[in-house]
Amino acid sequence: MDLVIFKNYDELSQAAAEKVIAALRNNPRLVLGLATGSTPLGLYQRLVEAFRQGRVDFAQVTTFNLDEYYGLPASHEQSYHYYMWEHLFRHVNVPPENTFIPAGDPADVDAECRAYEEQIARAGGIDLQILGIGANGHIGFNEPGVDFSLPTHLVELSERTITANSRFFPSRAAVPRKALSMGIRTIMKAREILLLASGPDKAEAVRNTVEGPVTPEVPASVLQRHPRASIFVDEAAAALLSPALRRKVQGAGTVALG
Ligand code: PGA
Repeated sequence: MDLVIFKNYDELSQAAAEKVIAALRNNPRLVLGLATGSTPLGLYQRLVEAFRQGRVDFAQVTTFNLDEYYGLPASHEQSYHYYMWEHLFRHVNVPPENTFIPAGDPADVDAECRAYEEQIARAGGIDLQILGIGANGHIGFNEPGVDFSLPTHLVELSERTITANSRFFPSRAAVPRKALSMGIRTIMKAREILLLASGPDKAEAVRNTVEGPVTPEVPASVLQRHPRASIFVDEAAAALLSPALRRKVQGAGTVALG
């Protein structure tokens, strides 16, 4: 796992965008795994700018999102379908039929989860998966205690996640209690992973992910076992890393851990 610390959210977003742009240039048929939430917004904004400047082309790209709230139709303003359309898809030339997100309102949840795994496999697997991280260490909606061997499945959101995400809903009661999410097994199959973490609320989760043991109690810690995972954090999210590690990263620019 490579760790890089950036001064602030802007620099982190810029570096994440350059990494995705390089991957897109290297492979125009990239299969890109996408995340939602506040953290990747700066990345998406920069990808849109790069597209407008003619620096990237999404014509042959395929995307797979990590998750979707269970019970929300794609038209709901807080659905991740809506988010992706608003923040990325409508601004670039990715063919809509190449964009995959689990359905939030499937007739048959198990069939939807199985179909999602099959769609990923048919696309040849995910080349580069973008991840955010929850304050509790979740990735996708894989909450603490998750079984690392699960593929895409229906998840019960933790109380902490419901509280964190209530900022997007009129009330806490309006937050869906479940979601369809890629499992840790799905995420770990991606050929490359880029996790982004910004702000003081993520500092504890970042420390546990990077310096703690690999444990289902901190789902992101599993990334220590991935051969090509990078974690980009800003200084606020790096604040609880051990001083020795912070010095090492700041001296070298990046540090390969484990
Ligand atoms: P955030 O969410 O980017 O909105 O902080 C990240 C997550 O919960 O995975």
